[in-house]
Amino acid sequence: MTQQKGHPLIRLTDVSKSFGPIDVLRGINLDVAAGEVCCVLGDNGAGKSTLINIIAGLHQHTSGRYTVDGHDVRFGSPREALDLGISAVYQHLALVPLLPVWRNFFLGSELTRGVWPFARLDKAQMKEITDQALQNMGIVVKDLEQPVGTLSGGQRQCVAIARAIHFGARVLILDEPTAALGVKQSGVVLKYISRAAQESGVGVVFITHNPHHAYMVGDSFAILSRGEIDLRARREELSVDDLIYRMAGGAELESLQHEMGR
Ligand SMILES: Nc1ncnc2c1ncn2[C@@H]1O[C@H](COP(=O)(O)OP(=O)(O)OP(=O)(O)O)[C@@H](O)[C@H]1O
Ligand SMILES: [Mg+2]
Repeated sequence: MTQQKGHPLIRLTDVSKSFGPIDVLRGINLDVAAGEVCCVLGDNGAGKSTLINIIAGLHQHTSGRYTVDGHDVRFGSPREALDLGISAVYQHLALVPLLPVWRNFFLGSELTRGVWPFARLDKAQMKEITDQALQNMGIVVKDLEQPVGTLSGGQRQCVAIARAIHFGARVLILDEPTAALGVKQSGVVLKYISRAAQESGVGVVFITHNPHHAYMVGDSFAILSRGEIDLRARREELSVDDLIYRMAGGAELESLQHEMGR
């Protein structure tokens, strides 16, 4: 599936979210276009997960507008978001460790042959499609029969992303996909994210704590701080050092260093 690059897929305008009396997000403006990787950075508790949970249909925004393809939406469940091609891959992946790679790829969407009550799983075709989908994205898995639990963390992330794309994701939401990974495995996932955007044209919302990872793949950046967007910039507008500085709290950190020095 390819789609026109640069076409805005989702847009949040002045979105706020409260849980009872607690304001968790305020005045959020964010848009993600086809083929673009939008990185959302922020400290613990900044509101990153809440933001993507709104986008993915797990929560509803309290005020403001959320549009998909220019139409206002208010999702009642992640299923409704998925129907519009908005798919979240969470840090704790919905994969079954003991099942083979190909079974996990088709989990919940199994292909069958024949008509009930004689229907049976079409294993050969599912394996073939899984193999093709993984190869297309440059993911090397030696044996599709191997339990998904025996893959590395990075490979598991890639399988979950490939699955989301195969089943029609137009916007892919990734919550800290590199957080639990080492340098090499993170590299594998980052390369794959970049490829998903460039070759499949999906819009990606990439949540991370790591400004280096963000800068490697990001077309645009949003830094969330205490529920508000503190910085929104396109790649051309800032260097990796700017991003690190702003991420670390910039001026705040400098004054802390000053205090510590005394
Ligand atoms: N259901 C809820 N009810 C009340 N407060 C909540 C709820 N969910 C989140 N919060 C609060 O909203 C704030 C932002 O939480 P959120 O999980 O979105 O942060 P985060 O940026 O994802 O943090 P982390 O980096 O730790 O994952 C926190 O102060 C949290 O306690
Ligand atoms: Mg979170």
